[in-house]
Amino acid sequence: MGNERELLMIPGPTMVSPRVLRSMAKPVLSHVSGEFVDGFAEALELQKKLFMTDATPFMLSASGTLGMEAAISNLMERGEKILCIENGFFGEKWEEIVTAHGGVVDRLRFDWGDALDLKLVEEKLSSGDYKAFTVEHVDTSTGIANPIDKIGELAKHTDALYIVDSVCGLGGMPLQMDNWNIDFCLTGSQKALGAPPGISLFCINDRAWEAVEKRSTPIDDYYANLTRWRPIMDNPRGYFATPAVGMVLAMREALRIIDEEGLESRWRRHQVYSDAFKAGLEALGLEQFPEEGSRATTLSVPKIPEDVSDSDMRGLMRIKYGVIIAGGLGKLGGKTVRVGHMGNVTNNDIVATMSAMEMSLMELGYEIEPGAGVGAAEKVLISHRTES
Ligand SMILES: Cc1ncc(COP(=O)(O)O)c(C=O)c1O
Repeated sequence: MGNERELLMIPGPTMVSPRVLRSMAKPVLSHVSGEFVDGFAEALELQKKLFMTDATPFMLSASGTLGMEAAISNLMERGEKILCIENGFFGEKWEEIVTAHGGVVDRLRFDWGDALDLKLVEEKLSSGDYKAFTVEHVDTSTGIANPIDKIGELAKHTDALYIVDSVCGLGGMPLQMDNWNIDFCLTGSQKALGAPPGISLFCINDRAWEAVEKRSTPIDDYYANLTRWRPIMDNPRGYFATPAVGMVLAMREALRIIDEEGLESRWRRHQVYSDAFKAGLEALGLEQFPEEGSRATTLSVPKIPEDVSDSDMRGLMRIKYGVIIAGGLGKLGGKTVRVGHMGNVTNNDIVATMSAMEMSLMELGYEIEPGAGVGAAEKVLISHRTES
């Protein structure tokens, strides 16, 4: 059996609050009981608050990928063109989904971790060719945060529907679905929302819903056909397929925690922890993946010193210090590691993770002053006097 005190500091799944865990340790309810139906309705209202939207919320049993697929399969018809704006692993994933549903991909691809060139985005969008366009809020492969607010300004001048994947952003980084003109926005339960994996959350606004209703061909999906789910989201007493009752109630508890903290405070907390962790990395002399100014606050992606093996470092961190971080993704495997600091993360977690990293690096022969990383992180934490 694993060590129950391990710190899970990967970019999702993340540590889950005992409040959420307790909500799951209850007898399973009937999916049509008043208690569950009321809980589901409350969760959906809290979801709208989190997305800062009046759009229709959907909460389905699935992972984040279902939201990506539902966006494409419901909004797009075969042969229609989608602009995929990409600067990482998850941005590129959209291409596969569009192709799988018979769409035509036009990609605007930047190197992994490079900031998007908004002039090029504007030029592409002004062609007026697209049914929709996709953007990653945070691409978890590189730790880059894209300026989805500025892209939202560009979205105003096009008929193309604006789809944002905020699986690694929402709940940690600012996102205002309505103010930023986002038509379809999606996330998953297991990252900055601080719930276990298993729930796909997304919102679809009236403009995007009109596109669904005006289709001339049927939606080529069954479970993810949103016209089947919409009546349930409008009134959770109905039935299309059995919701994951325990997970929905866990999600409600996680969303209550977010609501109690308040979005502004939560964004600020993520900023402070991210600044602290990144200051520690800098003090350790580790380069970081995206350029400063484009870095997400939900995770950090340091490059590993050339003479240190990333798997040795991660292994030591886990076995000796009980801290779990993730390896690099795709072509960044072996060159970077990924540290998630989102959701229910605390001051202690930041300091403990930095300490585990620097001690593991030292043990592997990397020369640094003991405490250099922790000291730099603490300076940031102290200067912000966060409470947690
Ligand atoms: C940015 C981003 N988008 C989409 C996904 C896919 O989500 P899931 O693994 O929950 O299907 C992930 C998963 O890590 C992600 O980080």
